[in-house]
Amino acid sequence: MAQRNISRRRAIATASAGALGTMAIHPFTTLNFANVSKLALLGGEKVRTDSWPQWPVWEKSAEQEVIEMLRSGRWWRGSGEYVSEFETEYARLMGAKRCLATASGTTALLVALHVLGVDAGDEVLVSPYTFIATYNVVFMNKALPVFVDTDPETFLINPAKMEERITDRTSAILPVHIYGLPVDMDKVNGVAKKHNLKVVEDACQAWLGEYKGKKLGTLGDLGCFSFQNSKNLPTGEGGAVIGNNEEIMDRCHSFHNCGRPFGSLERTSDYPIRGSNRRMQQIQALTLLSQMKRIHKDNDIRLENATYLDKKLGEIPGIYPAKMVEGNNRSAYHMYPFRFVSEEFEGVSRSKFMEALRAEGVPCSTGYGRQNQDGLIEEALNSRGYKRLFSEKRLNQWREENYLPGNDQLAREAVTFYQSILLGTKKDMDDIVNAVTKIYENRKALL
Ligand SMILES: Cc1ncc(COP(=O)(O)O)c(C=O)c1O
Repeated sequence: MAQRNISRRRAIATASAGALGTMAIHPFTTLNFANVSKLALLGGEKVRTDSWPQWPVWEKSAEQEVIEMLRSGRWWRGSGEYVSEFETEYARLMGAKRCLATASGTTALLVALHVLGVDAGDEVLVSPYTFIATYNVVFMNKALPVFVDTDPETFLINPAKMEERITDRTSAILPVHIYGLPVDMDKVNGVAKKHNLKVVEDACQAWLGEYKGKKLGTLGDLGCFSFQNSKNLPTGEGGAVIGNNEEIMDRCHSFHNCGRPFGSLERTSDYPIRGSNRRMQQIQALTLLSQMKRIHKDNDIRLENATYLDKKLGEIPGIYPAKMVEGNNRSAYHMYPFRFVSEEFEGVSRSKFMEALRAEGVPCSTGYGRQNQDGLIEEALNSRGYKRLFSEKRLNQWREENYLPGNDQLAREAVTFYQSILLGTKKDMDDIVNAVTKIYENRKALL
């Protein structure tokens, strides 16, 4: 991919970097170099010694109800009101007609794919830059995940590359709003409509994110969420499916409850459709109801800090914050992502850069890797079932086409900050900018 041109402002900043020995304030940061000249990794003073905001945060106000519910023994959804109450509140929060609470994000995806008719021998277009659950659920439905390359600038599925991957077996598209970044859903839905495909949004990291003013998860046929411990809306383990079609949502409910009839499903027998137990427990719902009280405020803080980082980090050569797709959009920022381009840091490797950043007191991680090369994929393709369902020719073609240069690039370049870091103060964000700038200025010392 062509690299972004360094702007005139950047060029000036880069040129002036050499004169740093005498400079007190750098042109693209608030850093005072008089105090922190030597990298912490090489024995210098750390930019930051304070701790970062911790996650999750327990809401004390929930304690009374939690204790009462636990003492009552009404722990499963059939014996209490909290799961239904959560479903009503979450649907309202998301601007969806209906919500079904599930045991996890993975189970939410399993419900959605099954109910939308993804069946054995089907193919599903999938984002490769994601957590394994996204394509594991396709395998669980005995379908073939077909990866569509990632646009490294947006970190998201590249809709321009979707059509070339469609076959007569393709039945659905599973785009992922990774880190809460909104996928270009108009383009995804356009392809889906043209080829008569279902769309399940993996919004497992995208609570209250928006695409063109609409909440992520409400733009496809169904949207799926995770409330696992690390998530911006956490309850240990938990998930949800949201949707606007009453009949489909009735089917989701029925399927997640062992196939028992629900709503519009006619009671032709005790179990009119196949099903499974994917139910959420009362304790999960009660915790979520209390966590939901803070999510608007938290998300606003994350957005404000991420916007600040976009501006400040984006001025540093070699640092490329994720680009938002066109529209009136909003990311949920489960992670703050950017690309680190080693060539613009004189060839310093990403792992050395991250080591230096951590030494300065800023925790960071790499994000996802070359998921399309995971061992579990060959394990599935070589199984008896897959050999029955797909011809050898098709599986070999799949292997040949499993080449994703955009995703490979991102796997090499991505660096992320965890969401709770974004709940810090402006001074905390300045510490991040100062640490990255300091490393940039001292990049030669890392070679
Ligand atoms: C993108 C994505 N999809 C699916 C999942 C699965 O959710 P869970 O861990 O709640 O099963 C996760 C959770 O980490 C996720 O991040």
